[in-house]
Amino acid sequence: MFAQVLAKLGEPFDVDAPCGTEQHIDWTPQSLAARAQGAAGLLVAGTPRIDAALLAACTQLRAVCSMAVGYNNIDLAACTAAGVLVSNAPDVLTETTADFGFALMMAAARRISESEQFLRAGRWSHWSYDFFAGADVHGATLGVLGMGRIGQAIARRGALGFGMPVIYHNRSRLDAAIEQQLGARWVDKATLLAQSDHLVIVVPYSKASHHLVGAPELALMKPSATLTNIARGGVVDDAALAEALRERRLAAAGLDVFEGEPALHAGLLDLPNVVLTPHIASASLKTRRAMAELAADNLLAALGDSGAKPPTALNPEVLPLRA
Ligand code: DGY
Repeated sequence: MFAQVLAKLGEPFDVDAPCGTEQHIDWTPQSLAARAQGAAGLLVAGTPRIDAALLAACTQLRAVCSMAVGYNNIDLAACTAAGVLVSNAPDVLTETTADFGFALMMAAARRISESEQFLRAGRWSHWSYDFFAGADVHGATLGVLGMGRIGQAIARRGALGFGMPVIYHNRSRLDAAIEQQLGARWVDKATLLAQSDHLVIVVPYSKASHHLVGAPELALMKPSATLTNIARGGVVDDAALAEALRERRLAAAGLDVFEGEPALHAGLLDLPNVVLTPHIASASLKTRRAMAELAADNLLAALGDSGAKPPTALNPEVLPLRA
């Protein structure tokens, strides 16, 4: 954790922060519950599971403040039932994450990782007319699955920066004025899959979005298309995706998130037409600081005695119950 954030928390609170090699610990439910004994609040970095079992083992917990926007690792209903305030970190990472999604999409379309690996391996001996020829991004149809804040930031980049016609699918449609501003058109999911030249997936993970893109959906996509997932592992069926990429039923993919990460589907590793990154879409130093600061501000408000409202609480309804 950033020293400034620890210092800020250290003013009113006693802080127990993992340091040194401990920072790389993969917490198990047991080790997390043991370490959290006696703690009133948790600042959550990464995606450890916060569930009813942890709450039952740590009855003194009053706030769980995550520095991520996605909170599928936290059982919000269980926290609310236990009177534990939960916050996430929206907004501060939107543009940084959209930058990365766009970069991953471009890298997949223009075969950047694949050609770099070829060059580093000392295999570059000649030039030919179709040498690493990929797909254009400018002017191609951008499909966005999930049109929240990050989806909209990606659509804006595509429409305004790259002259891309933008189509999107989301459970709820955007206001017509926002659609017009973004140059984005709502379509049903099948149309989105069939018409996108570059599909970017930005939906939160839930039971409903598990394998939202699997074999049947991949079969609808153009063989020349790319797929980029910066949402959560599990939204895409990675095994089906690996097969589609291997059989060239899909041209390329860019993946920052994986089912079961940090492990990933073995079939992805030896494919040349997939760009793989280790869940770093929000990782600019400035943004990671802002995410951590926001989590700390939520903790300070939730546990302090200033009466301030936690700025991005997901269940603010628990606060009055404590008074
Ligand atoms: C988020 O904020 O949800 C990012 O994926 C980092 O976990």
